Amino acid sequence: MRIRNWDEYQESYKLSVEQPEKFWDNIAKTFKWKKPYDKVLDWNFEKPDVKWFENGKLNITENCLDRHVETQPDKTAIIWEPNDPNDEGIKWTYRELHEQVCKFANVLKNNNVKKGDRVCLYMPMVPQLAVAVLACARIGAIHSVVFAGFSAQSLADRINDAKCKVVVTSDGAFRGQKEIPIKDIVDEGVSKCECVEKVIVYKRTEQFIRLENDRDVWWHDEMEKVDADCPAEEMDSEDMLFILYTSGSTGKPKGVVHTCGGYMVYTYYSFVNVFQYEENDVYWCTADIGWITGHSYIVYGPLLAGATTLMFEGVPTWPDAGRFWDICDKYQVNQFYTAPTAIRSLMSKGLEPVARYSLNSLKVIGSVGEPINEEAWRWYNTYIGKEKCPLVDTWWQTETGGILISPIPDVTELRPTYATYPLPGVQPVLLDKDGNEIKENNVEGLLCMKYPWPSILRTLYGDHERCRTVYFSTFKNHYFTGDGARRDAKGRYRIIGRVDDVINVSGHRMGTAEVENAINEHPWVVESAVVGFPHDIKGQGIYAYIICDRHVHSEQAFKDEINETVRKEIGPIAKPDIIQVVSGLPKTRSGKIMRRILRKVASGDISNLGDTSTLLNPDVVEEIIENSPMVKK
Ligand code: PRX
Repeated sequence: MRIRNWDEYQESYKLSVEQPEKFWDNIAKTFKWKKPYDKVLDWNFEKPDVKWFENGKLNITENCLDRHVETQPDKTAIIWEPNDPNDEGIKWTYRELHEQVCKFANVLKNNNVKKGDRVCLYMPMVPQLAVAVLACARIGAIHSVVFAGFSAQSLADRINDAKCKVVVTSDGAFRGQKEIPIKDIVDEGVSKCECVEKVIVYKRTEQFIRLENDRDVWWHDEMEKVDADCPAEEMDSEDMLFILYTSGSTGKPKGVVHTCGGYMVYTYYSFVNVFQYEENDVYWCTADIGWITGHSYIVYGPLLAGATTLMFEGVPTWPDAGRFWDICDKYQVNQFYTAPTAIRSLMSKGLEPVARYSLNSLKVIGSVGEPINEEAWRWYNTYIGKEKCPLVDTWWQTETGGILISPIPDVTELRPTYATYPLPGVQPVLLDKDGNEIKENNVEGLLCMKYPWPSILRTLYGDHERCRTVYFSTFKNHYFTGDGARRDAKGRYRIIGRVDDVINVSGHRMGTAEVENAINEHPWVVESAVVGFPHDIKGQGIYAYIICDRHVHSEQAFKDEINETVRKEIGPIAKPDIIQVVSGLPKTRSGKIMRRILRKVASGDISNLGDTSTLLNPDVVEEIIENSPMVKK
């Protein structure tokens, strides 16, 4: 199963394309099934309707936990490093994690959660979040983890969309020097949700909170009432495992749905190969469980492989910019997986914080979430990987469930800034805008997949038609990723970035329409247009052009209010970096905003703006250029 050299890669790849069902059957049959599947794959990209391991019955937690409790009960499953380096961490063995999960699963049952019910998890990076995720899976409840940096309004929208019955949260959260009042945000959010019956609160910061009678209960009180015996619910391969909301090019977030069987097989297979995890290794992914990276490569993938997975509560720059490297040395981390934005931010702090640590234990270093620029790639490779650890630039999406394109350490050839080759079972193609496949190498095109892999999304929660139109209707019989890519002479892929109205800020996906909707909530705003622009640390920054219905006396005060509005509507991650008040937006005669022009101005490049004379309001372009802080005068 684990690919060890180039010949094996080629052999596996060939088999996966020529006999995909045989290829995946070989992998899937190594898992614990309550009842074997009848058929490996049934698919139709037109509808879309994709079924993997049909009629197989399983519970993913038996594969994450029970299996390992039988063979390696005392192996460390989760290491938790708290925000404050002077506080004590946690190490749970597989036996201990199993016990916690079964107990919390019984807590959920006691709070009336049944198979198929949705449970929202809004928590900081504490190991109890992993427990809550697995406890849902144990009883067949569908988890919807919402990143605890989202605002009360965003939380409410996600809870209502999935009609979650229970919310699991904490009193507060520690992030660097900040203490965040998580429960207050939940109170405000849940006040807008009629579906919520119970809120279970984990005590983390011990800050004062208000418990609402009949609705709120403490995690620790509930855990006292239950035992650790909780049989795993029998799930169909195609039963929903979780919903995870992500941004699209229109306003409303999309609830990406993953199912039990295929997600299990693919996250395991990709984890083992991309990170080349060995028996006693310590693996660390710095993502938050609120994003897909945390779901697939902190919780499910590593636990399915019986690995030791490290969870970190804090931030990379507190108490200082050496924190990541301190943790690597402290736990002798072997595989380290982070985002380019973190690398760029640490790079800007110089080499001193790195030089304090040996980093000798590292074997593989990884990157995810956005294109990694060459300078960051080289810095990461030289100073962290010491030019001896393969750097895996892993390309994938919330919708793909797992890594699709990535180097395999010591197996496939690296190239800086390239995600390189598809993993076995993954069939990428580049299409031109008319949908013709570009077969040659040394080309650029729109990145699509022409064949399903086991962890492809199945639907968008409550909106299958949107799933079809967004991903499967642009090009017939293809899954469209929304990314543009380049393929070099050796067939290696480099992801260029989104080709739709989605921007990637510090590895977080943001719909421009979503940010515009938030800005437009401010009573003075007539209209706004949001675009991305190149940002040294964040990859892309948010640039907002705003038309205001009155003369603003203090532009700074107005901008502060806009930022506050966005923070309230979405969360701090969506706050614009640059706000420009404009008298109009460049529009075509049919009223469409010419975003291309706005993007160019935002990047400080005013060459080749094209013919602006046909616009409805050509003068406004001059004004925008004149007042843009990005254009050098
Ligand atoms: O544009 C691609 C970018 O992130 C998008 C997916 O975002 P999300 O669903 O939030 O998942 C992020 C973590 C898997 C993609 O469409 N992206 C992700 N990984 C890379 C990347 N861009 C370039 N290189 C990558 N390695």
